[in-house]
Amino acid sequence: MNKILFVCLGNICRSPTAKAVFDWKLAGAGLRLETDSAGTIGFHAGSPPDPRAQRLARDSGLDIGDERARVVTTEDFTRFDRIYAMDRSNLEDLRRLSPPEASARLDLLMSLAPDYGLDEVPDPYYGGEDGFKQVIDMLEVAAERLIEELRASER
Ligand code: 4NP
Repeated sequence: MNKILFVCLGNICRSPTAKAVFDWKLAGAGLRLETDSAGTIGFHAGSPPDPRAQRLARDSGLDIGDERARVVTTEDFTRFDRIYAMDRSNLEDLRRLSPPEASARLDLLMSLAPDYGLDEVPDPYYGGEDGFKQVIDMLEVAAERLIEELRASER
């Protein structure tokens, strides 16, 4: 397992932040995985992350300004080992888009961290900055659980 794709709706709030948080945590744990992010809609394709997502990421020391939104492609389903959806609606869309040759495992991101007590990463787009803060908090816990899983599988 070495390639992970994070997917949300617009690819400008949750999933580019997920990529940055996971890259940061994985690198800190000495683990090298290829990661990327994408959205299920192309409305924001080519755009940088939402300014609020950029600001909150920066508060955690993460620069996501160079990310550009893209839509999920058919190839993603064979290129990545795991595709993590932020919420159930994203997961349903992914199942619908999944081609017959798909090999990636599709899951809700928070299935990594059942102890967190929330199974969806709420869409922060129409809310305030607290929503973006919560997204980062959830992503950090999910990344830590993935690292624990990868360490356990190395043993
Ligand atoms: P994201 O947030 O899926 O976390 O990137 C959203 C971004 C844009 C929209 C909705 C959610 N939108 O409706 O444009």
